[in-house]
Amino acid sequence: MGMVVTIDGPAASGKSTVSRELAARLGWQWVSTGAFYRGLAYAAIELQIDLDDVKALAELTHNPVWQIKLDASRTKVFFKDEDVTDKIAHEDVGNYASKVSHYPEVRKALLDAQRNCANGPKGLVAEGRDCGTVVFPNAEAKVFLTASSEHRAARRAAELGLDQDDMVKAQKQRDHQDSTRKVAPMAAPQDALMLDSTELNLNEVVDRVYDFVKGKI
Ligand code: DC
Repeated sequence: MGMVVTIDGPAASGKSTVSRELAARLGWQWVSTGAFYRGLAYAAIELQIDLDDVKALAELTHNPVWQIKLDASRTKVFFKDEDVTDKIAHEDVGNYASKVSHYPEVRKALLDAQRNCANGPKGLVAEGRDCGTVVFPNAEAKVFLTASSEHRAARRAAELGLDQDDMVKAQKQRDHQDSTRKVAPMAAPQDALMLDSTELNLNEVVDRVYDFVKGKI
């Protein structure tokens, strides 16, 4: 396994943008592990699989009908050979993803595929909720990114063209689900750099993360 940096944090804390920029600066690959849960949830809905049917969901994790492809600009998801990366970005898919991510069987079944992302010739920046705690506990450097809920909701609402108050509610519900689930809840790794991005712009966040990572690798 190559070198790994993990960036975890709540919905819309800027993890994806920061990890993409960081990976570009380091010349490494990056993966959004949320894409695995989003892709699985999307495939389940398309195939009319009940989101409570744990057995069917666990089987679906290995079904080649949906696939993940790493890319410098986005972690892409394909369903039946169609690029559905834009479709899985919707907040309702995020919510379904959060639901399927509750099941230990599902999390376990996706773990190898997530870890395999670090097997390439370059290092890997991995972002999600449990990257530093469960997926890559031995990562060289770990970061936990936060921002105020209003700030996060405003950011995502602007991205998706949605109402900010609705977004605050939707994100609160998703963060609650993600941080209170029994298995691999969203959590800050003990040895992580804790960074609140509310008052910082993207470059400032990336600079701080980059300096921290450079001191570790
Ligand atoms: O980061 P995201 O919004 O794309 O993640 C979508 C959902 O997937 C998130 O609400 C919870 C789940 N998830 C997870 O349980 N563990 C991860 N490492 C990443 C995402």
